[in-house]
Amino acid sequence: MPDKEFNNAEKLPPYIFAQIGELRNEARANGEDIIDFGMGNPDQATPKPIVDKLIETVQNPITHRYSQSAGLPKLRMAIRDWYARKYNIELDHVNEIVTCMGSKEGIAHLALATLSSDDTVLVQSPTYPIHSYGVVIAGASLHSIALKDDLNEFLEDIEREIIKAEKKPKMIIINFPSNPTTQVANLDFFTKLVEIGKRYDIWIVHDLAYADIVFDDYKAPSILEVEGAKDIAVEFFTLSKSYNMPGWRVGFCCGNKSLVQALTKIKSYMDYGTFTPIQVAAIKALNDCDQDVKEICKIYELRRDELCEGLNRIGWDVEKPLATMFVWAKIPDKYKNLGSLEFSKLLIQHAKVAVSPGAGFGDHGDEYVRFSLIENEHRIRQAIRGIKNFLSMEM
Ligand SMILES: Cc1ncc(COP(=O)(O)O)c(C=O)c1O
Repeated sequence: MPDKEFNNAEKLPPYIFAQIGELRNEARANGEDIIDFGMGNPDQATPKPIVDKLIETVQNPITHRYSQSAGLPKLRMAIRDWYARKYNIELDHVNEIVTCMGSKEGIAHLALATLSSDDTVLVQSPTYPIHSYGVVIAGASLHSIALKDDLNEFLEDIEREIIKAEKKPKMIIINFPSNPTTQVANLDFFTKLVEIGKRYDIWIVHDLAYADIVFDDYKAPSILEVEGAKDIAVEFFTLSKSYNMPGWRVGFCCGNKSLVQALTKIKSYMDYGTFTPIQVAAIKALNDCDQDVKEICKIYELRRDELCEGLNRIGWDVEKPLATMFVWAKIPDKYKNLGSLEFSKLLIQHAKVAVSPGAGFGDHGDEYVRFSLIENEHRIRQAIRGIKNFLSMEM
């Protein structure tokens, strides 16, 4: 038998969400109707102009060849124009933009390209798992910093950790609007963060996955809007959420040339890029589908209202998020001691509702569960009835 020590795989804990997924599947196999708010996997169709562009492009055999790992120049130009239009930011599409096969892939490979075992990375917690585990996979040390409601306090915590660290951290990874907490930041936060990064010479990686899923007139800033941010920062964006394209695997990384080039280089060894017709369809999305994005966002807003108002009505107090496709709900007091995994299991069993346990996003999330807004309003109302019955049960 060959040596079964698989270091990198063993560094990763069992995926907590898989346990809930299994329970959901078991219940469904037993004929139960489980309403699934688990994974952040958009349920709606990709807008028609994007699908049509894919179909048209795939008819041309030249597109069946290997594509370009860094992204077709025209796609990188469309990304440049998207940033200019949306944020008034200038980017050089040759040096400061690289496309990825989804931002998850890009974030993991950026960590692999830039970190070594001597490096420490500060990551907010709770957060989307690849922010933390990208660092772990790259063999660097992960230092989680608990998110605070007051982002000025969070910035103070970051600075305190930098000052007290034996070796200065190399990178900070952040994500606002945040998955899973839905917390949002303003430009002042990013300005102060960039100041900290510059003061201590630390790279900053920002994940802007929910740039477009914003409500009530909130506008999610780009870190690149901060003057001079490009000196130390990059930002990731994905087409998965804004354009309902999660299965297509298109995202990008923009900003600091050294970081972008490090990612470009490692990717050139690892992949040949997203399939060309998908890249061409992504150009269509970025250039011509702003109205579709607004409509997609509206659907999440209606679901957010239905879910939050429903939960509040039955006595489970939750706040309406200003952004993202999630509701981050504190576990009701009666069940707090169970922790998020056990509570989520009870929700499947008794309410017929699947959610993501907060612990799956880091220890700091264990008092919460995350609802993804991927069920329609009718199903949300059905879920509220199930949760109401469950919460009124004597346990
Ligand atoms: C914050 C955040 N970043 C990145 C991703 C991954 O997106 P992609 O489909 O581009 O890999 C997600 C998906 O849920 C996310 O929530």
